[in-house]
Amino acid sequence: MDLKYVLEPESVAVIGASHDPSKIGHVIFKNFLESGFRGQVYPINPNIDGILNTKCYPSVLDVPGEIESAVIAVPAKFVKEVMRECAQKGIKGIVLITSGFSEIGNVKEEEEIAKIATDNDICLIGSNCLGLINPTARVDSVFLPMYKLKRPKVGKIAFISQSGAVGSCVIDLAAEMGVGMSKFISYGNAAVVNETHLLEYLKNDKATKVIAAYIETAKDAKRFLKVAKETTLEKPIILIKSGKTKGGVKAAASHTGALAGASEVYSAAFRQARIIEVESLTDLFDYSKIFLQPAPEGNSIAILTNGGGVGVITADWAERHGLKLADFEQKTKTKLREKFPSYVNMSNPLDLAGDADTERYETALNALMEDKNVHSIIIILLFQTVSLTADVIDLIIKKSSERKKPIIVISIGGGYTRINKEIFESNGIPTYSSPFVATRALSKFIWYINCIKRGICAPLF
Ligand code: ACO
Repeated sequence: MDLKYVLEPESVAVIGASHDPSKIGHVIFKNFLESGFRGQVYPINPNIDGILNTKCYPSVLDVPGEIESAVIAVPAKFVKEVMRECAQKGIKGIVLITSGFSEIGNVKEEEEIAKIATDNDICLIGSNCLGLINPTARVDSVFLPMYKLKRPKVGKIAFISQSGAVGSCVIDLAAEMGVGMSKFISYGNAAVVNETHLLEYLKNDKATKVIAAYIETAKDAKRFLKVAKETTLEKPIILIKSGKTKGGVKAAASHTGALAGASEVYSAAFRQARIIEVESLTDLFDYSKIFLQPAPEGNSIAILTNGGGVGVITADWAERHGLKLADFEQKTKTKLREKFPSYVNMSNPLDLAGDADTERYETALNALMEDKNVHSIIIILLFQTVSLTADVIDLIIKKSSERKKPIIVISIGGGYTRINKEIFESNGIPTYSSPFVATRALSKFIWYINCIKRGICAPLF
């Protein structure tokens, strides 16, 4: 069972490619055409001759030549027959979108489908899933139209999700903010490929540096935790586990057929495996992006700001989240004192004042990057001021690309600020609207680095 057949196929059949643009099979086929997929795509539908100027085949068995992978979007009653045809054709990877199996109590049929897959060495994702995206290979079987759900650019965060809906929210956020992804896999009922198989694959996937996951249950919790513990030695796992309350457990069972487990037991086990557990979808996204920063030497931070109040709020949250405000080296203070007006205090947060411009930020950043007492830099930019111009963005992108220390940005504001934040994000700089979220995410990152590199795993807060 090799995931390359679904993630990097050279040819794909879309089974159930409907003539009707409002149907799922049509959207999947259209997305393959529009995503720039470089291999062959074959629409399969016995009831039409062609779709979107492409000849349609009644069955995969009618396609001349080999097919490596298939996406199935036909009603549940046809799935077994179609899967047998796929096996006969020698197809080695299947993404099964169709619902109507274990999540509605139809366990027997799901087992039969799983057996067809395993008997024939087919890597089966699904059933009851949204599809997957490999931005590098331009493989996109997600059944949501591109005009409604933007696709993320190529990046280093992989996201696996038992739920299609959760998956679509996170990829929408990522695409909107310009945060790249290495893989997205919605795996639904996990009839064959489950979260542990996906983790094993992503652990060895060179394109993936951070793994984000949404799970309702782990099919084999013991093995999942063992693989997770091995994986977190190499790359972080940020995870949301739902189905923790009585109501949640019931909802998970009817959603993906998952038998969710006790909350405390899971959380304790996640901690042991060094998994970073989060509670909200926005946290999943906000935490994942900071883990792509260079590893900090410790928990001392500098806060650089052009707004005193936001600096103070950030300092408060930093301390509550176990971060330490660095005492700047004397040479840093001397350098800054020479260049800055007398109303700029040489303290941390370093308040560059309401008339700060790009030059002042540059002087401060140059000094703080060299200061051994500073391990990470939080830059607050309030773009509303008259003196702060957009060239400060180029400066920070340049400094961040040196990859000496983590640099994160806090910027709070409306439309103009939002545009600037997107530029930071699409250049790999984690950017936040909230000092609370920014300092908590940085704290988790520092905890992970301390734990993996220095064996110090005590929580920072
Ligand atoms: N081979 C190929 N094509 C076939 C076959 C066959 N054996 N039999 C029928 N078809 C064609 C049909 O003719 C039709 O094409 P047409 O519209 O041109 O006539 C096409 O396949 C689709 O068949 P429909 O009967 O129209 O089915 P429909 O598109 O309405 O539904 C679907 C199929 C989408 C798979 C549905 O059964 C389903 O499962 N929907 C839910 C999907 C879902 O929510 N997945 C999980 C999401 S993620 C999550 O939240 C966990």
